[in-house]
Amino acid sequence: MKSPVRVTITGAAGHIGYALAFRVASGEMFGPDQPVILRLLEIPQALSSLNGVGMELEDCALPLLHDIVLTDDPAIGFREADYAILIGAKPRAKGMERSDLITENAKIFAAQGRAINDHASPDVRVLVVGNPANTNALIAAANAPDLDKRQFTAMTRLDHNRALGQLANKTNRLVADITRMTIWGNHSMTQYPDLGNCLVEGVPALELVTRDWAIDHFIPRIQRRGAEIIEARGLSSAASAADAVVDHVRDWALGTPEGDWVSMSVISDGSYGVAEGIVFSFPVTCAGGEYRIVQGLELDALSHSRLKKSEQELLGERAVVEDLLGR
Ligand code: NAD
Ligand code: LMR
Repeated sequence: MKSPVRVTITGAAGHIGYALAFRVASGEMFGPDQPVILRLLEIPQALSSLNGVGMELEDCALPLLHDIVLTDDPAIGFREADYAILIGAKPRAKGMERSDLITENAKIFAAQGRAINDHASPDVRVLVVGNPANTNALIAAANAPDLDKRQFTAMTRLDHNRALGQLANKTNRLVADITRMTIWGNHSMTQYPDLGNCLVEGVPALELVTRDWAIDHFIPRIQRRGAEIIEARGLSSAASAADAVVDHVRDWALGTPEGDWVSMSVISDGSYGVAEGIVFSFPVTCAGGEYRIVQGLELDALSHSRLKKSEQELLGERAVVEDLLGR
């Protein structure tokens, strides 16, 4: 049997954490032959609720779950973590933008970046979910000077999956028929869901839908979907967010399918003219536990201007948290 993978989940007693922990423990993230150890980190006020999550995990008698650690101490929570999934943070309420959370949430990610640096496995892979996710990932990476910034990512897979769902509905095809969807930019209203390279059963998506639908319906629907869910549920997305976490980490760890790519927010290396050093969503392929930004895609002037808009927003967010970016 393989040796267990250590997975830290922060905010594990919250809505997303509760939907996620059981899926990781049942083998959906790393496969049916990969044991896991869950290290669940919460704040002191949520420890009682976290204990309940631990009891329920025990009661599932999951054969792949080799150990559960419940703690409010980041040094214990991140100890030897192979994967760190940073969910613990405040969610937005109706009428807020995700960036409105920046002052309250940003400091969490500075402290956790330091704890990951000091206690996690040197090969740890980090996914930031707590909003504003891209800038929080930047903060965590900046506070982990011994680690490579490529080890830190933020989640735009939910936006990617939302885009697949909307296009499948519109074209009357299955999600599995769609390849090469791309979300560019920030996990925010400025993100750019791009059908320009997307294929449906091998046919360019833009031959199957009108340009008007793409611009006036598809793009704004994906940009606003988080707010649409909050409006309907009175709470932000949770099960779909947990599902996107499973997809993001699984593909990073086990690889993306041949001929397709996924959207991940990663540290920009200047690809497509995006400012270096911000955490920006790109199309990526993954193999051997590493991601690679897809190169050479054609972008028209409108697409370039949309990428610029998101880049400018992220540069603005970076300026707001400047004092948290050094160790
Ligand atoms: P929630 O309020 O249900 O749960 C958050 C949990 O985090 C709580 O249990 C809280 O006690 C815990 N927490 C807070 N600070 C912590 C810390 N320093 N260490 C450990 N735990 C801590 O919220 P939720 O619905 O699970 O959402 C969590 C975050 O994820 C929010 O910021 C939300 O906006 C974000 N989110 C991001 C995406 C995305 O696609 N990137 C999608 C959905 C939600
Ligand atoms: C989402 O996209 O559902 C999350 O980022 C939650 C939110 O605030 O929209």
